[in-house]
Amino acid sequence: MSGPDSKDRAYHLAERQKSGRGDYLEALLAPLAIEQRAAILDLGCGSGYVNEYVAARFAPVRNLGLDYALATVELARELTKAQGPVFFCASAEQIPLPDACAGHVIGRVVLPYISVTRAVREIARVLKPGGTVLLSLHPWTHYAAWLSLKPWRWRKTAAALLLLASGAWFAVTGREVHPAIGSHRVTQSFQTASRMRKLLLASGLEVYRVIKKREFLIYARRL
Ligand SMILES: C[S@@+](CC[C@H](N)C(=O)[O-])C[C@H]1O[C@@H](n2cnc3c(N)ncnc32)[C@H](O)[C@@H]1O
Repeated sequence: MSGPDSKDRAYHLAERQKSGRGDYLEALLAPLAIEQRAAILDLGCGSGYVNEYVAARFAPVRNLGLDYALATVELARELTKAQGPVFFCASAEQIPLPDACAGHVIGRVVLPYISVTRAVREIARVLKPGGTVLLSLHPWTHYAAWLSLKPWRWRKTAAALLLLASGAWFAVTGREVHPAIGSHRVTQSFQTASRMRKLLLASGLEVYRVIKKREFLIYARRL
């Protein structure tokens, strides 16, 4: 069995430790109004701690965790002790599930790394009418914090400028740009509440709560 490379594994283990606490997840998920025996889908599920919490708290009828990285899916399977969660490898931009199959979708820090437009379209498709979604996003300040006048940090500063420019273009025009640097395509970007409101509404999802504190969170409901 292949394992995640040490960097990814260390990242996911640290995130699990930091964000896998019951009190944090209770507050994070409360606005979704998840009912007992609901059908849940976590996009970019990482090490699976959200699915594990959901399994214990809501006894869901379906509890799916999807991640693009096979090694991460394998890590989630290895670490998750709860009965019920099913982890599989797929892209949130092309979800291999039928229409209207999920009552609640969670996307914690995955949309900033992929095509937001495609992912939102897919979320709207798989959500049942009345179903709810939580998206945790990157505000522009996430990348502004990378800017530095120190010459040895020029790479990070250049990346920040590129990501701030592509995010600003998306905020103003609604069109995503994913510039290529050599063979590497940059898919990372920042999001704004107003652009996300418009994008979600265009796919039939109405935003009912925006939280901008320690995290940038958007909650929306399928109309
Ligand atoms: C920042 S991590 C967040 C992990 C987890 N949601 C959490 O909050 O701890 C982003 C995750 O998204 C996954 N990912 C990246 N691109 C993806 C895509 N197109 N579809 C699904 N997952 C993706 C990565 O493999 C990674 O596990």
